Amino acid sequence: MSSAGQSGTESATAEHPKAYPPPEEFAASAVATADLYDEADADRLAFWAKQARALQWDTDFTDTLDWSNAPFAKWFVGGKLNVAANCLDRHVEAGNGDRVAIHWVGEPGDTRDLTYAQLLAEVSKAANYIGELGLTAGDRVAIYMPMVPEAIVAILACARLGLPHSVVFAGFSAAALRSRVDDAEAKLVITTDGQFRRGKPAPLKSAVDEALGTGEDAAKSVEHVLVVKRTDHDPDLNWVQGRDLWWHETVGQASDQHSYTAFDAEHPLFLLYTSGTTGKPKGILHTSGGYLTQIAYTFKNVFDHRPETDVFWCGADIGWVTGHSYLVYGPLSNGATEIVYEGTPNSPNEHRHFEIIEKYKVTTYYVAPTLIRTFMKWGREIPDAHDLTSLRLLGSVGEPINPEAWRWYRTVIGADRCPIVDTWWQTETGAMMISPLPGVTHAKPGSAMRPLPGISAKIVDDDANPVAPGEQGYLVLDQPWPSMLRGVWGDDDRFRDTYWSRFAAQGWYFAGDGARYDEDGALWVLGRIDDVMNVSGHRISTSEVESALVGHSGVAEAAVIGAADETTGQGIVAFVILRSGVEDRGDELIDELKAHVSKDISPIAKPREIIVVPELPKTRSGKIMRRLLKDVAEGRELGDTSTLVDPTVFENIRRRNG
Ligand code: WTA
Repeated sequence: MSSAGQSGTESATAEHPKAYPPPEEFAASAVATADLYDEADADRLAFWAKQARALQWDTDFTDTLDWSNAPFAKWFVGGKLNVAANCLDRHVEAGNGDRVAIHWVGEPGDTRDLTYAQLLAEVSKAANYIGELGLTAGDRVAIYMPMVPEAIVAILACARLGLPHSVVFAGFSAAALRSRVDDAEAKLVITTDGQFRRGKPAPLKSAVDEALGTGEDAAKSVEHVLVVKRTDHDPDLNWVQGRDLWWHETVGQASDQHSYTAFDAEHPLFLLYTSGTTGKPKGILHTSGGYLTQIAYTFKNVFDHRPETDVFWCGADIGWVTGHSYLVYGPLSNGATEIVYEGTPNSPNEHRHFEIIEKYKVTTYYVAPTLIRTFMKWGREIPDAHDLTSLRLLGSVGEPINPEAWRWYRTVIGADRCPIVDTWWQTETGAMMISPLPGVTHAKPGSAMRPLPGISAKIVDDDANPVAPGEQGYLVLDQPWPSMLRGVWGDDDRFRDTYWSRFAAQGWYFAGDGARYDEDGALWVLGRIDDVMNVSGHRISTSEVESALVGHSGVAEAAVIGAADETTGQGIVAFVILRSGVEDRGDELIDELKAHVSKDISPIAKPREIIVVPELPKTRSGKIMRRLLKDVAEGRELGDTSTLVDPTVFENIRRRNG
């Protein structure tokens, strides 16, 4: 379970009320009102059909849901739409072409604004050129880019052409990119020459070159690499003739007029790889109509969105699902004006986010708890130095938010005036599932509160019985929802096994999270119950890091756990056994191993701590006792060691840990 430390059991005081009602003024004019729950309860499918019809369909659907081939859902059967047209053309046609879609802020401080009309023109150019390359609907495109406007243009151009995109976080390694390109058999890779980090250019295309290989070893599916010039830092940039193409020389020259085709509601929109309990990331598949319906609906209602006056900012990277859903499709399908920021919160200094909020008069701010805890550490004088009065709503996503961070967020960033929406969802759910409605819910700090209208969830024990309030159980989704994943790319068995086998008899989706209801019926998500860690809101599997470690020539065996971390929620702690004959070179070796994981997977997977041990605690059946390793890493008294083959291994581990 996550250790972010929410209690939900603490008693209320005047200073710390148990729940925070929405401000009266906010509630009085809120987009979402309490009757949404009643409407959805009365007829769930009719409710979703109504939400879907808020989109623009070229052909109306005939059936809301076909669940006859569960767990393979079909939503909005027979309907046809174009996702990109819903995000762009629709708003331009409605006379909002001059509205700013994106206020982009580059890492070094350069800026660019794109109106809806301009964004449509850019996407049309890209669609025209990518179409000329010979890709046809259904072909996959890998996008490996920093947060530049062209990344969003590329995503929407793929959507417009019916090419499922697979965005790979630009912080991932060449090896991670390669495995994703191969698994999806991507025909095209879109990237940039480099990306800025702390004002300095760092190479990116070189990672694509390394990933795609040459000769015998070349990635077979890839025909072209389209390169956006971002940093222009390398006069000798490696260039593969015939394969590599400059974006500005190709897309840049294409026509800005493009007429779209409508695709089936179930046409694949994107794949997004996410960590599972085994080493190999799975390609989560999302389709068009259902995904866009729930994204547009949740964006509008949970963020109380007013397209004419709001300025929305989601701090996630496009490499994660939050970036897909609430940086690309949610805001743009709603005709929102949003911030897209390329850099980290502390480049060039810790004021960056607050300067952006102040400059662009951001109204709605959506980030992960880990960032809020980082802000807390930096101190309130930083936000206090800025005018944040434009803010009217705050959101949290990605991991449980501890009540202390929640209150700080509300008081320091939100001036005790802004409701907070703590939104629980997953890559697999596609859109928000459990969250307060900001004008309705009396939110409790640390609780995601209750399923959104149209969504149904339960907390159950091993035998599928609902647990009593206060008791911990498994979080399950007992009804299909429009933006649900439609499968794991190329692996139906894994799809069934991972999500649908735990409660197969009931036909429920198993989320992999533990949760409980409190005595007032508020839902508390407690964190993963499987071997998936949550580090700064990023999902990383223990086995992925373990296999990277044993991939180092000096390591014989590795066990990885997520240990409680004040800032990042969990921190990665690895216990390694060296191969015989390998000398323990102390810190030098540890640094080398950390760098190895960082290169093999990504800097986000770099262990916080690596402890060299002579043995690992194992049960008689050979299973590593992770629970005990967690006790060690978190400095606790050891739990029950009676099932260990050799209880004395701990003396050694403890000694090493100092
Ligand atoms: C966790 C991110 C508590 C949870 C959108 C889930 C949360 C995993 C919350 C999915 C929240 C996400 N409260 N836990 N509000 N939001 N989680 O796929 O463990 O990157 O299963 O999607 O993050 O992570 P993913």
